[in-house]
Amino acid sequence: MANILITQHIGGAGVQMLREARHHVTYRDKTEPMGQAELQTAVRHAEGLVCLLTDRVDTAVFDAAPQLKMIANVAVGYDNIDVRAATARGILVSNTPDVLTEATADHAFALLLALARRLPEADAYMRAGKYEKFEMFPPLLGLDVYGKTLGIVGMGRIGAAVARRGALGFGMKVLYTANSVKTAVEQELGAQKVTFPQLLHQSDFVSINVPLTPETYHLFTLDTFRQMKPTACLINTARGPIIKEDDLLVALRQGTIWGAALDVFEAEPEMTPGLADYHDRLLLAPHLGSATGETRRKMVETAVSNLLAGLAGQTPPNALNAEQLV
Ligand code: GLV
Repeated sequence: MANILITQHIGGAGVQMLREARHHVTYRDKTEPMGQAELQTAVRHAEGLVCLLTDRVDTAVFDAAPQLKMIANVAVGYDNIDVRAATARGILVSNTPDVLTEATADHAFALLLALARRLPEADAYMRAGKYEKFEMFPPLLGLDVYGKTLGIVGMGRIGAAVARRGALGFGMKVLYTANSVKTAVEQELGAQKVTFPQLLHQSDFVSINVPLTPETYHLFTLDTFRQMKPTACLINTARGPIIKEDDLLVALRQGTIWGAALDVFEAEPEMTPGLADYHDRLLLAPHLGSATGETRRKMVETAVSNLLAGLAGQTPPNALNAEQLV
């Protein structure tokens, strides 16, 4: 039996799984993160921690939690956790890959289509009673998607799932950047590995699917946008700080690129000033990539299963640092 802290609301099923395994669970059933001081106090006796991407788990948290053995992040991204520091202290960390791949790719593609065909603007137009006549060239002309070039920045699991939708569903040519050649995707989809500048120059739609790291922080600045087509659309379902939002606003206002769809934000949930006021061809969503009921429940189940395995002395299926710990 171990002491487990669940930092935020995860639904009853995950809590029950832990309690059925006879662990002592402290469940903070709230929908916002604790402040850092509160987290440091709450974690004091924890051996296991279930946290969300909005919890910052850093060395100060580790200092406050001398008994901590394992952290199960209920997210695939784990830039909220200092994994290197956790490893140095022998603390296991896990994430929730795979179960959210398809839902997140669906969302990226939904954003792409909605942006290209201007659906949020169209909806607002209808509700404002502006549809008075059919026009051959209406004010809300969109962009073709079928047969266009899709650039995937980061051909991991989610990037490949977005690419599959583009290539197989929409006849798109797929370009990608990655640290290594992705032979399976190249064979399946005819995808082509290119340099980042080549991807920017040639793509009609650019989907960001890299994790947030020091290398990808502000990967998209005004300089980047200037290398894109003026008709290009940018879709970000990864992490907000990969885009310098002030620069994106300049690029949109100046027509440097055609449009952008953002599911994640630089200072989430705060909005960069000006972002929410800019309506034309900027689509905003509140970090909904994996947000279907089914997928979110699977994420919780995956995180809890990982934690149970780790606390039982097994290697959790989605451990991020198990090899470094042995
Ligand atoms: C969501 O952003 C996740 O990393 O799971």
